[in-house]
Amino acid sequence: MNRCFFSQLLTLGAGLFAARSTGATDTDDRAELTDPAHSAAPSDLPVTVSDFIAQAATRLPRASFEYVTTGSEDEVTLRDNVEAFRRIRVLPPLLHGVSTTDLSTTVLGQKISMPVLLAPVAALRMLHPQGVLASARAAASANTICAASSSALNGVEEIAQASDGPKWLQLYVPRQRAVAQRLVARAEAAGFSAIVVTVDLGERKDADLRNRFTVPKDMLLKHLQDIGYTHLTDRSSHMDLIEFNAAAWDISLNMDFFKWLRGLTRLPILLKGVLSADAARQAVDLGLNGIVVSNHGGRRLDGMPASIDVLSDVVQAVDGEIEILMDGGIRRGGDVMKALALGAKAVMIGRPQAWALAAGGEKGVRRVLDILRDELTNAMIASGCSSVEAVNSSLLRT
Ligand SMILES: Cc1cc2nc3c(=O)[nH]c(=O)nc-3n(C[C@H](O)[C@H](O)[C@H](O)COP(=O)(O)O)c2cc1C
Repeated sequence: MNRCFFSQLLTLGAGLFAARSTGATDTDDRAELTDPAHSAAPSDLPVTVSDFIAQAATRLPRASFEYVTTGSEDEVTLRDNVEAFRRIRVLPPLLHGVSTTDLSTTVLGQKISMPVLLAPVAALRMLHPQGVLASARAAASANTICAASSSALNGVEEIAQASDGPKWLQLYVPRQRAVAQRLVARAEAAGFSAIVVTVDLGERKDADLRNRFTVPKDMLLKHLQDIGYTHLTDRSSHMDLIEFNAAAWDISLNMDFFKWLRGLTRLPILLKGVLSADAARQAVDLGLNGIVVSNHGGRRLDGMPASIDVLSDVVQAVDGEIEILMDGGIRRGGDVMKALALGAKAVMIGRPQAWALAAGGEKGVRRVLDILRDELTNAMIASGCSSVEAVNSSLLRT
C-alpha cells in the first residue's frame, strides 16, 4: 500500500476499488500477520496504518470493507479529517537534548501506556470472528483503553470476560429506558469503567445503500438480545429484526437524558460528538466527565468540520474543567502529537483499528497500536518532548 493509493482510496471513497472478497467465517482465525522472518514477502508486514487498508480489502467482502472505509455523501468531512492534519506544520526547537520519551498518561484517572485509545466501532464481529473481543485483548496487552461500541455485536459480559484491561462502554441509547438502565448497570457490574454517550446519530452512506449492507440475521438477533431485548427469538424474520432494530434506539436525545443517566450510575460519563465551544460548555454544565471531539469519522453529516480544526475552540471553552479526547483522521503518530499539542488528553482510532482487525485479528490491532506508538515516540523525540506533558502548541505552525 503506498500513500498514493491511500489518498486515492479516500478521494474516491473506495467506490471504484475492486476489493477481492474472501468473506469471514466463524472459525476463520486470520490472525497471522506476515512476519518477515518467516516469509518470502517481507513487504506484507504492515509498517504504517495505511498498509492495513489493502490487507483488509483482500480479507473482507466488498460491502463490509466499504462499510468501514467510506464516509457519508461526498466524503468532504472524511477527507478533511485526514488532510487537516497534513496542513498543520511542526517546527521543533533545535539542540533540545532529548533522546528518550515517556508516552504514558492518565485518562479519567486510568494510567495508560500511551495517549491512543481504541474508538467504539460497530459491527466488528463482521470483520473478524473475534471482533471487539480481539480489540479489547489488544488494547489490554498494549496497556490502553478499549472503548467498546454497544453495537460491536458482542455482549458486555462477553467483552468483560475476554479481557481484564481497561474498558469503556459506548452507548447507543435503547428507546426503552428500562433496557438502557439495565445495560448500564450490567456494564458497571461487568467492570467497564466509563460510559461514552454518542450523540451524533443517524448513519446514511451511499456505499452502504448501493451494497445493501446489512448485519446477518443471527448476528442481529444476538445483538438485540445482548442489548436486553430478550423477548426476541429466532422465529422473527430477518426483515422483522431489521425493522425492530431501526426503531429500538433513541435518536432524539436531549439534556434530560444526561440528567437521568447521571442519576443512574457512578461511572464517569463522556459525551462523544462535540464539535463546538457551546456544546462543550453544555457537557461541563451537565456535570459530565469528558468530551470526545468527533464528527464520527465523517460518517454522519457531511460538511461538518474536521475534528482537529475545532479542537482548540473546545479546549479554550472547557478551560481544563473536564478531559478532552479527539478522534477522526489519525493515521500517523505525528497526528497524535499534533492533537496533544492542541490540547487533547488523548486520541481514539476508528478505521485504523477496524482495518487492522480485519487484516490480522488481535495481532493486527496490537500491531497498529505499536506502529502509532513507534511513530509518536519518533515524533516526540524529534520535537524535544521527553513526556506527553511537554507537548504544547509552541511546536506548531498552523
Ligand atoms: C466502521 C465504523 C463503525 C463505527 N461505529 C461507531 C459506533 O458504534 N459508535 C460510535 O460512537 N462511533 C462509531 N464510529 C466512529 C468512531 O468511533 C470514530 O469516531 C471514528 O471512526 C474516528 O475516525 P477515524 O475512523 O478516522 O479514526 C464508527 C466508525 C467506523 C469506521
